[in-house]
Amino acid sequence: MAHQNKLNERHSIFMSRSHRLSVETTVHERKNGSSSALFNLVAGTGTHWLKYRGIWMQVVRERETQSIEVMSGTPWETVTLTTLSKDRAIFPKLLTEARDLALRGQEGKLVIHTAWGTDWRPFGQPRRKRPLSSVVLDVGIREKIEGDVKTFLNRRKWYADRGIPYRRGYLLHGPPGSGKSSFIQALAGSLNYDICLLNLSERGLGDDKLNHLLSNVPERSFVLIEDVDAAFNKRVQTSEDGYQSSVTFSGFLNALDGVASGEERVIFLTTNHFERLDPALVRPGRVDILEYIGDATPDQASTLFERFYGTDIDLDVKEEGRQRELEEQGQELRFIIKKGGEKGRTISMAALQGLFIRNGGSSRGAIEGCQEHFEVQK
Ligand SMILES: Nc1ncnc2c1ncn2[C@@H]1O[C@H](COP(=O)(O)OP(=O)(O)OP(=O)(O)O)[C@@H](O)[C@H]1O
Ligand SMILES: [Mg+2]
Repeated sequence: MAHQNKLNERHSIFMSRSHRLSVETTVHERKNGSSSALFNLVAGTGTHWLKYRGIWMQVVRERETQSIEVMSGTPWETVTLTTLSKDRAIFPKLLTEARDLALRGQEGKLVIHTAWGTDWRPFGQPRRKRPLSSVVLDVGIREKIEGDVKTFLNRRKWYADRGIPYRRGYLLHGPPGSGKSSFIQALAGSLNYDICLLNLSERGLGDDKLNHLLSNVPERSFVLIEDVDAAFNKRVQTSEDGYQSSVTFSGFLNALDGVASGEERVIFLTTNHFERLDPALVRPGRVDILEYIGDATPDQASTLFERFYGTDIDLDVKEEGRQRELEEQGQELRFIIKKGGEKGRTISMAALQGLFIRNGGSSRGAIEGCQEHFEVQK
């Protein structure tokens, strides 16, 4: 909140010094059909000067008269930012901040549905969406899964033309607290999809009900089945005390396979114990993309560190020292994790997040906490 205010403040200071303003209109259409229009004063075309985190830069906004964007009908524009060569490192920061703000602007709510008898019903209040970029996975994983989902969602006709059931399955496996659930929820949110959360071990859920539920998933929803190994193992392990999950493995496979033609289905499965899964479950057609989501790599750790501590600083000249200190500590953290890894020791992203929260005011404390975490491991 404080951060947001600061940005607004910065924005208005910038505006009051700028002479060429233009009006930007956004029309917001609600689900019930009503709509409202918002007006915003923004820097118009031409040259502007602004100070961002203590650094002056020139902004030139130019409008292309020839071409327009086909989809939205808005004119094509070029915005050129120029600053001194010594300050050029500011650009990635500016772009990151701009992107985060843009994402925040799009933020709606994520609705989670759970099974209620044979129907799906929204569970609890819609949740605030989590930006996808806040879940830090190992290099390339987010892009791979996100890209695959998007491609799939754009290929309805391609599947229909070939008579292939329009479905896709994803399995994320790996240790606890690595971001599997968070990532799936953030991904759904970013695509404006809901989540239908299915618990296979739920009492009273039989093969028929499961089949019915999976054939009647609300539109624009991902089905999420967590701990997919547990449902069937438990049945074997606890059968003596009389408790039986009434979904059978073959019933589950049938429910996964039985998708009405033309109907879209995206299923995410998660597990901590990939080795316990029956190969029949993870064959293509049931699971098309299989991804290991592991403990923190040096890259992931330093990115999360930067996310936590880097966003607090307002880079006035006097805070440059702090910025340098954070960069050094980020390196230190990478080193600790790399060294630990060589001895087979790891830390989960959730544990790192915990350390950063506990040491909110002290990045040094967080680094020491991480060091201790590795020292106590056998
Ligand atoms: N890769 C990550 N990036 C950012 N935060 C993470 C990441 N992994 C875990 N966290 C944080 O740790 C907490 C637990 O994460 P999450 O529930 O997504 O883990 P999980 O992999 O689903 O674990 P489990 O296997 O136990 O279900 C969340 O609060 C999340 O913010
Ligand atoms: Mg989880």
